[in-house]
Amino acid sequence: MNPAFSLDGQIAVVTGACGKLGPIWVEALLEAGATVAALELPAMTTSPAFAALEGTYEGRVVRYDCDITDRASITAAGQLVSAAYGVPSILVNNAGVDQPPDSGTSRSAIEDVPVEQFRKMVEVNLLGTLQVIQVIGGAMAKAGRGSIINIGSLYASVSPDQRFYDHMPGNLPFLKSPAYGASKAAVVNMTKYFSTLWGKAGVRVNTLSPGGVLGGQDPDFKAKFGSRVPLGRMAEPVDLKGPLVFLASSAASYVTGHELRVDGGFTAW
Ligand SMILES: NC(=O)c1ccc[n+]([C@@H]2O[C@H](COP(=O)([O-])OP(=O)(O)OC[C@H]3O[C@@H](n4cnc5c(N)ncnc54)[C@H](O)[C@@H]3O)[C@@H](O)[C@H]2O)c1
Repeated sequence: MNPAFSLDGQIAVVTGACGKLGPIWVEALLEAGATVAALELPAMTTSPAFAALEGTYEGRVVRYDCDITDRASITAAGQLVSAAYGVPSILVNNAGVDQPPDSGTSRSAIEDVPVEQFRKMVEVNLLGTLQVIQVIGGAMAKAGRGSIINIGSLYASVSPDQRFYDHMPGNLPFLKSPAYGASKAAVVNMTKYFSTLWGKAGVRVNTLSPGGVLGGQDPDFKAKFGSRVPLGRMAEPVDLKGPLVFLASSAASYVTGHELRVDGGFTAW
């Protein structure tokens, strides 16, 4: 392996580590040699995928309670991580909320979507990410090095195609929220802000925007989504790992302020 891609000896923080994509990022970082501090809501049960990593990489992945919407909680987690390992050199801002069709939330016509739903997505996806960057990214900037990777989405760039959902039963059509893409587009812009602010402090800041990732979707959805992707399919975990390690590592030493779309070409069409 080209040593520029190695993360040996590095300390990485990943937020929202126990969800669907969290364990994929955590595993990629562990495989590349990093030790991972996995930040997650205290009430979130440990997923089987995350538990498997704890078993395989004993001592190199440690979970910490953290609510990214609560500044005191981020500060407390940051202090624990720094006391154990020193200031991290990699931060993956992965924690986020969406409202998938299977979330059980009652459907509304677009005119009636409660503004609270919008507020919640902005609070976690944008303001939560901002606060983690302030606390943990700020420590990295003071230390004079690091790589921050904010997880965006294909919907930062394009509107969801609501036809992906029109086969789903219900008294009203499922509408993917306008708040999700708006919050992610804001993350892409905020990434550019911090990349310019902290360039001279030696901290690179990039967005990794995944396309739709396979995981329990119904066959009609997968077929419709796949036919809309130039590479013809949804993303598999392995598709995401290399791009993350690239951005985290010194192989990307001259890459900052960038949005790396890992979407099979979805946003090129
Ligand atoms: N799954 C996909 O297909 C996909 C595609 C594009 C982008 N993304 C983005 O990837 C990221 C991860 O998505 P996912 O599919 O794993 O979602 P997920 O819901 O499975 O996991 C999100 C994790 O974030 C945690 N979280 C939520 N609020 C939090 C808070 N306030 N503080 C700390 N942690 C919190 C949750 O507990 C959960 O473990 C999100 O930012 C999402 O927008 C996902």
